[in-house]
This record gives sequence, C-alpha cells and structure tokens, in this order.
Amino acid sequence: MTNVQHDAPAFPMARPPGCPLDPPAEYGRMRAEAPVTPAILPDGSRTWLISRYADVRAVLRDPRVSADLRKPGFPIISAAERTLVDVGFHPGFIRTDPPEHGQLRRMVSADFTIRRVKALRPAIQRLVDERVDRILDGPKPVDLVAELALPVPSTVICWLLGVPVADIGKFNEWTRAVVDADTTPEQTQEANAAILGYFDELIAIKQREPADDIVSRLVRQHEAGKLTRPEVLTTSMLLLVAGHETTANMISLGVLTLLQHPEQAAALRENAGLASRAVEELLRYLSISEFATTRVATEDLEVGGRLIRAGDGIVALTPSANRDATAFPDPDTVDIHRKSRQHVAFGFGPHQCVGQSLARAELQIVFPTLLRRIPGLRLAVPAEELRYKLNEGIFGVLSLPVAWD
Ligand code: HEM
Repeated sequence: MTNVQHDAPAFPMARPPGCPLDPPAEYGRMRAEAPVTPAILPDGSRTWLISRYADVRAVLRDPRVSADLRKPGFPIISAAERTLVDVGFHPGFIRTDPPEHGQLRRMVSADFTIRRVKALRPAIQRLVDERVDRILDGPKPVDLVAELALPVPSTVICWLLGVPVADIGKFNEWTRAVVDADTTPEQTQEANAAILGYFDELIAIKQREPADDIVSRLVRQHEAGKLTRPEVLTTSMLLLVAGHETTANMISLGVLTLLQHPEQAAALRENAGLASRAVEELLRYLSISEFATTRVATEDLEVGGRLIRAGDGIVALTPSANRDATAFPDPDTVDIHRKSRQHVAFGFGPHQCVGQSLARAELQIVFPTLLRRIPGLRLAVPAEELRYKLNEGIFGVLSLPVAWD
C-alpha cells in the first residue's frame, strides 16, 4: 500500500480497560483528527482505517471497492479468514463481488424477507419461552450464553437450513474453533473440514429426500445447473456460521447492557412496544461486528480528503461510525428510547446483512420475554470477572452467569 506514514498504529486495537463494551478509545481520536488513517495488520500488511459515519457509508457503497478476499491487497485480519485463504477455500458470497455476489445472494434472500421472518415469529416466541421455562426449572446460577443466547439463534437457523437440531452442539463447537482467536491454524482447519464433511453428507441426504428448507432449495438450483456443488456447500455454511454466532453474541451482550442499566430494563419490561427501538440502540451501541466490513480498492479513490490507491486494503470501522456524534448525539450513552435505526451494525451497501430481519425478530422477542418472565434477573458474578471474545471479529462474552431473586 502506498501513501502511508511509518508510525501507523497496529490493528485491531484494544478496548478500553474496564469498559469492554466501548470500542477502542483510538477510534474517537481518529474520528476527530485522522478519520482516514493507515494501520498495520497482524500479518504486517498495511490498510486504511475509515472511522467517520459518512465515510464508512460512502466506502461501503462505492463500486470502486471490492469485497473479494481473493484479490491482492485484501486486508485479512482474523485467523479464520487467513486459514480460508491459505487452503484456497471460498468463504461464501459475503466475500465476493458482482455478478457472483448478486447471483448467490439472490438464491437465499427470499428466505430472509420481513414477510418470511414475520411468519416465523410465533415459533421463535415458543422456542424462547421453552428455554426460559428450562432456566426457571433448573439450578441457579445459570450461564445465559449456553442456555439461551446460543440455543435460540442456532435452533432457528437449523430450522431454516434443514439441519437436524440435534446436531447443534457439534456446530457450536466447530464454529467456536473457527472463530476463536486462540485456536491454532490446524484446529481451525480441522473444524472447517468437519463442517465441510457434515454439509457434504447433508447435501447428499437432501438430494435423496428433498424437504421444504434452504439446503434442499440450493440443491435443486444445483441440479438445475444454476449452482455448483461447492457453491451449495459454502452458501449453506456461511448462513449457518453467520446466522448464529452473531445473534448469540448480541443476545448475551444485550442482556448484560440491560442489566447494567436497570432503569432502561424496567422501561422495556413495562412496555414491550419499546422492543424495536431498544434492539436498534443495542445493535448500535454494541456494534459486535468489529471488522467484518473489510474491502480492497480496485481503483484510486478519495475518502475524507485522502487518496486511497487501487490495491490498498480498507477497513470500514462500523463500531466507530456508530459512535460518531454527527450521526448519534451523545453517542457513548446507551438510550433505548432514541431512534438509531440508521446505524451501520449490519453493514451498508450491497453486502448489508441478509439476515438482519431474522436477527431483529430474535432480539425483539428475547429481550422483553426474558425481562418479563424473570423480573429479578441479575448478574451472578461481578461484571469485572466476565471474560470477553476479543479480536475474533465478532465481539461477545464467553459466558454470562446469571441468577434471579
Ligand atoms: C445481530 C446479528 C447480526 C449482525 C450484527 C450481523 C452483521 C453483519 C454485517 C456487519 C455484515 C456485512 C459484512 C460486509 O459488509 O462485509 C453481514 C453480512 C451478512 N450476514 Fe449478518 N449479522 C447478523 C445476523 C445474521 C443472521 C441471523 C444471518 C443469517 C442468515 C446473517 C447472515 C449474513 C450474510 C449471509 C451476510 C453476507 C451478505 C452479503 O455479503 O451480501 N447475519 N452481517
């Protein structure tokens, strides 16, 4: 990459000690002083960090930037993506460009429309109620990640894909190994191979016994010559991995945030009509997707007054954009009454999250249900003892021990 200074900071950056729910303090300084700034990635390569709301949106919708991680100069941050590249494995349409991107995205987008998700809401509500029944019937304290945050989105994405719910445990284990910043490249590769092998078998089953689910529909497209078998495989895997890890982290961190702001939790408990606003605000405030929105420039372009050259890597910092005071007054305060739907927690532009309606529905059901059914819910350990998922790309808490009065 050209046009950079030699004192570029390292990226990813650390969250402020004692305030893990806040993004790195450097983001605020960058927005004020150097909104488009070079940084050094773990592999030693250089990239541009984009920190202001308007610039992040401009970059993410700019046709002169590519989301194809196979292109030279693409910034690879997470160990999981590095492994995918090293083994020549295609990570699915999230990291492709037109026309491939649109072709693959259109194969599944109909399954995640607002209308389709609305029809799923009663089943999601029943699922959440069953999980809460189990929690109330079991011993205290309980780990909310294991008992609620992970099972709800995993079960829902399994229903949609046509994956047996009984296999969720295996998937959660494999996904953890793929995203965990502490696993070795060998472990990541093993987990990837296990997921691949599983889907390979599942595709064969759906070929023999098609059902009303996404994998069966993708198999039909393959049989009609519109998709290759590897495309069926990577699209299914992308939906499974993207469809539960993200929402699970939002559930656990969202509950944690509400428990730390009891007056806001009380307002939501008393008025479930606030759920939609509360969810948008928690998505904005927590911005769990830390650096998914990576790109590479395919032509020279100017962003925030700086020249980014063709071949330069770009990280559009959505967590920083979501704390930009020009878009969200008093941005470091969480306020479930504010209107924050224009946040970029689901990205922006052509790659904006395909599962956002589903994620919203799950979150809008989980938070009010939990607060209403367990009104005395509280953290069972001091907040300082919680351990977080750091630098994995998706921010989360490893476990959330809770009890109730
Ligand atoms: C709160 C939960 C979620 C968050 C915060 C989230 C965040 C994101 C973000 C930031 C992107 C953009 C990536 C980019 O521009 O490179 C994205 C894309 C995507 N998300 Fe989500 N996501 C969530 C839930 C889900 C769910 C439930 C699904 C299930 C289907 C899903 C599937 C995808 C897919 C397939 C893409 C790629 C879209 C494309 O490239 O066209 N996500 N998500």
